[in-house]
Amino acid sequence: MTDRNAALADPDRILKGFSALVTLTGIYPSGHPLVREKLREVHDGLQHHLKSQPSVELDVIRGVVHLNGIASDTRTDGYGLSIDSLHVHAGVRAEEIGTVADFLSRAKIDPQGEPVRAQLARRGVEHVSVGRLVPLDTRWRSRQWPDRPEQILDPDYEESLALAQHAFDQLSSDRVLDIRAVGDLVRLLMFRVVASHAALAQILTVKQYENLTYVHSVNVAVLSLLIGRQIGLDEETLPVLVEAAVLHDVGKTRIPLDLVKKPGALDKRERKMMEAHPVLGAELLMQVDGLRPATALVALEHHRTVLGGGYPDIGDGVIPHVLSQIVSVADIYEAVTGARSYQVPTPPERACLLLARLAGTKLNASLVKAFVSAISFFPIGSLVRTSREELGVVIRTNPHDPLHPVLQLVDEQVRCALGQVDTAIRSEDGAYDRHVVETVASAVSAPDIARFVSSAA
Ligand SMILES: [Fe+2]
Repeated sequence: MTDRNAALADPDRILKGFSALVTLTGIYPSGHPLVREKLREVHDGLQHHLKSQPSVELDVIRGVVHLNGIASDTRTDGYGLSIDSLHVHAGVRAEEIGTVADFLSRAKIDPQGEPVRAQLARRGVEHVSVGRLVPLDTRWRSRQWPDRPEQILDPDYEESLALAQHAFDQLSSDRVLDIRAVGDLVRLLMFRVVASHAALAQILTVKQYENLTYVHSVNVAVLSLLIGRQIGLDEETLPVLVEAAVLHDVGKTRIPLDLVKKPGALDKRERKMMEAHPVLGAELLMQVDGLRPATALVALEHHRTVLGGGYPDIGDGVIPHVLSQIVSVADIYEAVTGARSYQVPTPPERACLLLARLAGTKLNASLVKAFVSAISFFPIGSLVRTSREELGVVIRTNPHDPLHPVLQLVDEQVRCALGQVDTAIRSEDGAYDRHVVETVASAVSAPDIARFVSSAA
């Protein structure tokens, strides 16, 4: 490539040229030499790439120009363009680029209106698409949450979800993190939710509803807290851990929701964008006054491995802070036990096996051990439903089989005892007779349930 061609092919220069083309198109009549010259320059730049690849994808993500998903050294304020992405496919004609520039210079883009792609197609554009990154995820509200849990949630847990939702909501709409809501949430999680058997059971078992980021964040915070307590972190450090865990994934609010929720595997470019969330989150958190310094650090490091790999690349062998290591364990457990639009949740026992497999390479083995010993899936006193549709109160846990407790079966009103069953019993073929399939929140007060537990004892 000659120097001139290399300069033309520079992604930054193409975008800059395209921006100038949009401006010139808005000012001069069509066919003006200045417009023609700029159009030729942009088209030539694109053709250099299209000779060797089927498409050129130019994206500006947080001010960094990306060419086909790879970040360049160039930062930009967007060149005044109203778009963040310009994707051009082989076969593109110069007129199509001119049409897109004309469209952008004149059209008022209505996000609720006809899709831009359709509007461009009507104008004969087949090889160019433009896009705007949704700057923030605005679908946090549970009313818009189609798969929200139908079961009654523990009231403290529900309140914590509402607080988290509020904090994320405000971050989305006003770009301001409500530090008081975060403080209230941390206290609620530390003093109430973690002490509630029903809440813990609801967090530990599989979640059949779409696991949106704020729910995931609350759950990861509670699970991190269990690990932190198990390893004996002191009372000053625990709130630091919980705050960091609540906010570890806020960078995802800077990534288009469609990508965050995309079913199936991500391509290289999408993966790059998703993998930007730790850096985006850390940047965002560093700008918030009143947060502890560890919070941004954990957001940055929570996908780094205990051997110093993972992402983002902050230098080979850089070992994450212990608080980041704790959040990593909780994060993976929570992610795999939660439902995704494309993935059924992994049952708790399989999730624990997965953690064990990752221990030593990706995760800190001692922390995995601490997590598994800290959790009791069905604490004594939980009200649960079995695979045979029976309702029961957990009266004893089996230390070697924590997922199969001993139950006092009760009637639907939780008034009469109907006999005890040990769910760890297997039939001759080795299969369990019954499983606990869900934890049930009920209007029955704790003392009433305690009566079953104490009479069974
Ligand atoms: Fe994450």
